[in-house]
Amino acid sequence: MRILVIGGAGYIGSHVARAFLDHGYAVTVFDNFQTGLRENLFDDALFVHGDIMRADQLRAAMAGGFDGCVHLAALKAAGLSMLQPEIYAEANIAGTINILNQASAAGISRVIFSSSAAVYGAPQYLPIDENHPTEPENFYGFTKLEIERLLNWYDRLKGMRYGAIRYFNAAGYDVPGRIQGLELNPENLLPIVMETAAGIRPKLSIFGDDYPTRDGSCIRDYVHVSDLAEAHVSAFEYLLQHDQSITVNLGSQTGVSVFEMVERARAITGRKISAEVTGRRAGDPSELVASSLKARELLGWVPKFSDVDTLIASTWKMYEKFVNR
Ligand code: UFG
Repeated sequence: MRILVIGGAGYIGSHVARAFLDHGYAVTVFDNFQTGLRENLFDDALFVHGDIMRADQLRAAMAGGFDGCVHLAALKAAGLSMLQPEIYAEANIAGTINILNQASAAGISRVIFSSSAAVYGAPQYLPIDENHPTEPENFYGFTKLEIERLLNWYDRLKGMRYGAIRYFNAAGYDVPGRIQGLELNPENLLPIVMETAAGIRPKLSIFGDDYPTRDGSCIRDYVHVSDLAEAHVSAFEYLLQHDQSITVNLGSQTGVSVFEMVERARAITGRKISAEVTGRRAGDPSELVASSLKARELLGWVPKFSDVDTLIASTWKMYEKFVNR
């Protein structure tokens, strides 16, 4: 089976490419290195340097014939999407239209799409299941929801089957250490905690301690990127077996607060990790926790690495080399 992983040199994409390779698929990675990294490529995968904004480059890459593609090529900073919606509209929505049109012309009828819990907006109840209303609070989440709607129409009109995977908070690194690239200028909590532990940045800001949660800091559902990656393979196999599209949440179903994450990181790394409570960050809901029942039932998905200690330890393995540099 041949799979094209678009955005496969990125943080999540490289783990996804690795999971398909581990399951015996022939993988081709397509990436423009805007945020992807050359060191995330694998010797046992093919690579095409290309951009999803270039229909000709997609057409050439897809000409080889694939049983499916995974689409992870997108911009993902929710805050920036509110300041530069035109850039997000272009890269995420127009880029996906290019992919779908070229895939459909090349006879690729299965696509696994990186969606996000950001499609839900502020939680109306917890845990959030797939029937929760979708009212994104930022433009990034809107782009993901709009793409899901496009996928739905391409399914109806073009027979394109899709798996839309709504990630909660992706974190961690490949436990055997096969992913080499570190995300540059990370915006997410765990890599920022690790940069502080390693001395790359002096201090961590904790965005608010006055939320209505058990310790006042925000609660999130962190899910290991290798568990996410495994679900992409399962979702693809679901499309093969059932010829039916599917939309699933992926989360660990466990809420962890910012303070809890920092405390555990101090214990595991043995580093001080200076932290200071600053004001709330705009648009942060106090608590986000997934129901992943549907992924468990339909895909047989069971997270293996999403406990807090594995999330932190596998990330620290990537950052501890910076200590004392
Ligand atoms: N946080 C801090 N300090 C920091 C960074 C983050 O206190 O320096 C806090 C945030 O306020 C939040 C928690 O840590 O409470 C997690 O923040 P992240 O920025 O790591 O992640 P978000 O929950 O904001 O968003 C992430 C992805 C989105 C995705 C969402 C789904 O970045 O793309 O998870 O749950 F939509």
